[in-house]
This record gives sequence, structure tokens and C-alpha cells, in this order.
Amino acid sequence: MAEHTFLRGPADWWRQAVVYQIYPRSYADQNGDGIGDLKGITSRVPYLKELGVDAVWLSPFYPSELADGGYDVADYRNIDPRIGTLAEFDTMLETLHAAGIRVFVDVVPNHSSDQHEWFQAALKAPKGSKERDRYIFRDGKGEHGEIRPSELVSHFGPTAWTRITEPDGSPGQWYMHLFAKEQPDFNWDNQEVRDDFIKTMRFWSDRGVDGYRIDVAHALVKDLKNGHLPERQSYDVSVMKNDGTDDLFDRDEVHEIYKTWRKVYNEYDPPRVAVAEAWVHANRRARYASTEGLGQSFAFDLLGTQWNKKKFHSTIDYQLKAAAETGSSTTWVFSNHDVIRHATRFGLPESALANLPKWYRSADREKQINVELGFDRARAATMLVLALPGSTYLYQGEELGMQEPLNIPSEQMQDPQWFRSEGSISRDGCRVPMPWTSTGSSFGFGPGGSHLPQPAWFKDVNVEVQDKDPKSTLALYRTALRLRRGLVCAEQFTWVKHPLAPQVMHFKRPNGWQCITNFGTKPFKLPKGQVLLSTKDVVDGKLPANATAWVK
Ligand code: GLC
Ligand code: CA
Repeated sequence: MAEHTFLRGPADWWRQAVVYQIYPRSYADQNGDGIGDLKGITSRVPYLKELGVDAVWLSPFYPSELADGGYDVADYRNIDPRIGTLAEFDTMLETLHAAGIRVFVDVVPNHSSDQHEWFQAALKAPKGSKERDRYIFRDGKGEHGEIRPSELVSHFGPTAWTRITEPDGSPGQWYMHLFAKEQPDFNWDNQEVRDDFIKTMRFWSDRGVDGYRIDVAHALVKDLKNGHLPERQSYDVSVMKNDGTDDLFDRDEVHEIYKTWRKVYNEYDPPRVAVAEAWVHANRRARYASTEGLGQSFAFDLLGTQWNKKKFHSTIDYQLKAAAETGSSTTWVFSNHDVIRHATRFGLPESALANLPKWYRSADREKQINVELGFDRARAATMLVLALPGSTYLYQGEELGMQEPLNIPSEQMQDPQWFRSEGSISRDGCRVPMPWTSTGSSFGFGPGGSHLPQPAWFKDVNVEVQDKDPKSTLALYRTALRLRRGLVCAEQFTWVKHPLAPQVMHFKRPNGWQCITNFGTKPFKLPKGQVLLSTKDVVDGKLPANATAWVK
């Protein structure tokens, strides 16, 4: 592989990196088929460079039947022909690297697509074969094996077991899938499965990929010994054991796998990095972030947090301490391809936030959103975390202050969570293709249409409009990321208390950099210094409510 695709530099580049998540099918469509592609991403590298991100993370672009937006992978070492080719991937990587931007790819090790050649081989092979052993096949209960092997619900509801038809046409065994039925779970006790993922890691690392986002990293190893099968009605972290002995999630043995991956990552210069998507008890997160393991772990606490100083304060305290104990750095994230955009979330009343599916299904859901408040708080919240030590993950479109598009008719929905479960929310809204221009059949997403319908208000919320407006959210993000490059040096952090203004959050960073966020209702007199940036206009030296300022 061409050496020039490697981007060298310090081994700790990731510790305080700003990583921008791209959902490839919804970013930029170069050939007008309505699906974003790699050439589209390559064409946007100047935009990403100007935005000032350190890295991009690409959600899956592998061949897939799209039963779960690409998280059903049919071939881990190839590109979906609708998205591009390996040669186009190399060009994209080279272009990003030339702009100084590193690349994370998404690895989905818990399950494959049912179209993966191994699963297809398993369907054709007999019970007890080595082909079936790569997945989790079991006989059903009941006289004719007609009852599912255990009462295990799927993440997308309702059951995690699907029965197959044997090659001779008779009703056959069942296989386990924690997600959609098109996503059969691998059997990680199988050595071939382990070896194949090492091969995948080497394949992308050799091409020059800098890092990996590991999907459902806590689920790979399950307790299936002596005929045991996990049973569960909920995937809530609260029902999971927090000592490494849960039979389904976060088992201690999973880290043996990540140790073998770490050895591979460390063969490269700089070492490849990884971030775990692990929905585990907070006290267990450190294991995934260990330097002998993946190295970093997502902290999702702020995804559900209300606009509340106390909650932000305790979350920040906890995350910084926990990261320091492992020698890793923490992660900040408000939006991704799985959740309602944070500009909308922060505009919801607490009752709606407490039960998002209920809000999503209510007839007056849009009336419940205070758009202006959500917008202000989202900007303030993002500027707050960008001033903290650790790395920040941004999600495409949030740099436009984008609200969640809520206008998708159910017949155009694609999310399996929406289909498999009553009362759930659809993740399609946050996956609506990016608006680049005010006009055009898909607001500049491409020369054709868009695989999910875009709202009419994209004519006002898009890159073209915001590019010209120095007060836009895009301009704010650009300024923040540029300033941050100059300010981030050491990871020190100190709280400043304001007993008379308890709703104000204030902390100091090295070199005189300070960040102040006003969670209260009254304007707050800023400390002396130069206001480097402010999410709302500072009037008479005072920071308005629902705003953040950086002062030096
Ligand atoms: C992760 C992904 C999500 C996907 C699931 C199954 O949670 O973020 O989009 O549906 O894993 O792969
Ligand atoms: Ca395309």
C-alpha cells in the first residue's frame, strides 16, 4: 500500500481532537443517485478544512443491504458500490490527509449482515457445522423446536431470535440477533471470527486509516456456556450487572479481544487509535479506555442531560476524573446518527425529554419545541465542551445549528427501530441529507434527489447562507475550532465558583483561557479580559442567559 497515505505526527493527536462524524449516505452525492458517496466526501474536504476539524469518523460505507443504515455489514473489507470503490476510498483518504485531517472508520464486530458470505454459508450448512459455529444458532424449545430458545428481546424489539428454514425445506434452528433480524450476532468464542477482525483491522490500517469507532463494543462476548442463553426484556444499562459478570453485556472477557487489537494498532506509526461505543455503567467505562485496550470510550451522559448546571457540573467532574484515572482523555458528544439533534432536544420541556418516544409520537410534538431556546442552548453547550479537556465529537449538520427534521412520512422511513418497535422514535430525522445550498433539487446535496426527504426550511439553514453570514452558527464553529487550536496545549482545568451566581459555570484553562456559561436567567458580568467568542452578544460586559463566552 502506498506509504504516502499515512499521516504521521505525535502519537497522542487524538487526546484533544475535534472529530466530525460523517454519515456517508447523507453527506454529499456526487453522481446524483440520491445517495451520498465517497467522491462527494472528497469534494467537501475544503469545507472540512475550513471548518477546522482534526479528524472525521465515517459511519459504515461497506457493502450492505441497509437493513440498519449500513450497520449490517456484508463485507468488512470493501466499499458499497453505491458509495464508491476502494480506489475512491484511497483518494478520499489521501485528500483528507493532505488537508491534515485524520480518518476514523466504523467497525461493527458484534454482528454482520445476513448477506455476509459466512451467514449465507451457515444457512446452507447443516446444524453443528463449522459454518454455523461462527454465529449463534440454537435449537428451539417445544416438541418441534417451534418455541424460541430464550426470552431475549432485541434492541429494536420484539425478539432477538429468528428461525431459519433448513436447506431441505424443513423449519430449522434459530439464530440470535441483538438488533434487526438481518444482523445475526457473531459467536466470539470462535477463533475464525477473532482472526477475521484482526485481518480487517490490518486491512484498513495498512491503507492509512488512523482510527476506529467500535460499534456496540460491550456486547461481543456473551455467556453461552453449558447451554446457557441470556434472557432479557430491556437493554437499559440499569438492568445490566456492573461487575463484569452480566451474561450478555460488558463481560470482563471482552477485553481479551481488545488487547489483541491493541497489539495490532501499536504496530503502526503513529499507533492506530480506537473509541468504544459501550453503553455500560459509568464505573466500567475505564476498561474500554485502557491503554492496553481500545484507548478511548464514548461518554454518552450529555446525550440525555437537560440544560441544567448541576447536571452538567457533575457530569463534567465525573468524566474528567474517570479519564484521568485511566490515562485516557474523555469524550464530549451531544449529537450523532442515533439521537434527536441537540438543537431540538434542548428546546424540549423536561417532561418530553424524560420520555422522548412519547413526545415523538404525540400529535403536537412540534408545538412543544421552543426552537429559539433549543438553538441558543445547543450553541452554548457545544462551545462549553469545546473549551474542556478531552476530545469532542461533532455530528454533520450541527455546525449549522440544525434542528431535527421531523417531516418524514412513515412510508419513507428507513430505520428498523421504527418498524420493529411500537412507541419508539425513528433515527431517520438526524440522517436527512446535508443542505449545502438554498436551492436545487436536494439543496446542493447532489444533482439528483435525496434518499430521505429534506424539509423546506433547509432553504434558510444551509452552508451557502451561513458561509456569508459572520453571525451564523457555521461561523461560530469555525471561529471556535480555529481559536481552540491556538489555546489547547495542556489538559489542566480549574473550576471558578460564583456563590452569588450559582447558575453560572466558569472554568479556567492554561494561558489565561476561561469559559463562562450562563445557565441562569439573568445576564452575568464577565471577568476582565478579551471576549474571544460569545454565542450571544455581550451587552455592557454582560453575558446573556443561555449563552457561553470564551474570555482571555
Ligand atoms: C450502534 C449504532 C447504531 C446501530 C447499532 C447496531 O448503536 O450506532 O446506529 O443501529 O449499533 O449496529
Ligand atoms: Ca451517489
